[in-house]
Amino acid sequence: MSEVATKPAAGGPIRVLSGIQPTGNLHIGNYIGAVTQWVAMQQPDSENFYCIVDLHAITVPQDPKELRKKTREVAAILLAAGIDPKRSVLFVQSQVLAHTELAWILSCVTPYGWLARMTQFKDKSQKQREDTSAGLLTYPVLMAADILLYQASQVPVGEDQKQHLELTRDIAMRFNRMFGETFRIPEPRILDVGARIMGLDDPVKKMSKSEENPSHAVNLMDPPDVIRRKFQRATTDSLATIAFTEEQAGVFNLLTIYQSFTGQSREAIEAQFAGRGYGDLKKAVAEAVIEGLKPLQERYAVFAKDPGQLDALLKEGAAKASAVANRTIATVWERVGLGIGGG
Ligand code: TYM
Repeated sequence: MSEVATKPAAGGPIRVLSGIQPTGNLHIGNYIGAVTQWVAMQQPDSENFYCIVDLHAITVPQDPKELRKKTREVAAILLAAGIDPKRSVLFVQSQVLAHTELAWILSCVTPYGWLARMTQFKDKSQKQREDTSAGLLTYPVLMAADILLYQASQVPVGEDQKQHLELTRDIAMRFNRMFGETFRIPEPRILDVGARIMGLDDPVKKMSKSEENPSHAVNLMDPPDVIRRKFQRATTDSLATIAFTEEQAGVFNLLTIYQSFTGQSREAIEAQFAGRGYGDLKKAVAEAVIEGLKPLQERYAVFAKDPGQLDALLKEGAAKASAVANRTIATVWERVGLGIGGG
């Protein structure tokens, strides 16, 4: 029996897994809430797997050429942001077939009602109505497969993925009860500051890749003048005080972005802006973001220039990921009674 099957839940190495969709443009919400954590969690005592989830992307229609282009682009951004292939396995989800295999098996042990209750599904299916794909419903099962295949102990994500993580834990526990201890139960890692960056145009809405208003999100590849313009246009209020209060959603969001990029405490930031106007705040946030993204943007240009090297790296990542994922799949097949046995 495989190693995974005998000691899934008993401690084991720190395994980190997370994923990102190669759709739209990556923005500072993705960066602050997820990618900075991914980079920081590359510690000598942990094994890290980062996955570009193209199979999740196709739950809504995608242009095939654009999807491939974005997949490479996201890989280059992640490398530029500090994902180090010597310390992390970076790969494309569709290149590791075990993800779709496990997703099917898990979908057979997941009650339909658990999926229909997911808020992201409810929101998206309400908008898409008749066009809602079955894949959109089973999306969180594929996400559970991504995580459970690697026996991940920690999953760094933004706050919007919390419910999907809870579902993943429930699916894992249900499977373990039905078939014996097989999966490790993962813990979400959600930041205290920056887990939910809001839209600049509408600070009660989460910053999202799919919003159409060009002033909604600051994208990681935005040049400095665009970043300045977007922050200048950011929605604030008429209270004219600069403090971390939830009631001032726009100001709170700007301050949170500033805090994430400068690493300063709330008290220090409030003291710095005491008695100053929103114009000053917007300028300061824009400059901090421009400064913070500069090294990433410079390195991106280098990675993007060499698609051959990028593809080779992703292929290598997929081979390493498959080796781990296939061990889990072998155990799952045995537990569930699939095939004719004997390896
Ligand atoms: P995705 O591609 O929408 O987002 C990638 C990551 O960015 C975080 N995020 C945010 N954090 C803070 N503020 C925001 N406004 C913001 N918007 C997005 C997300 O929480 C996420 O961590 N289903 C996932 C991808 C996925 C996955 C996985 C994640 C697939 N399999 C396995 C973890 C583990 C998604 O659509 O993320």
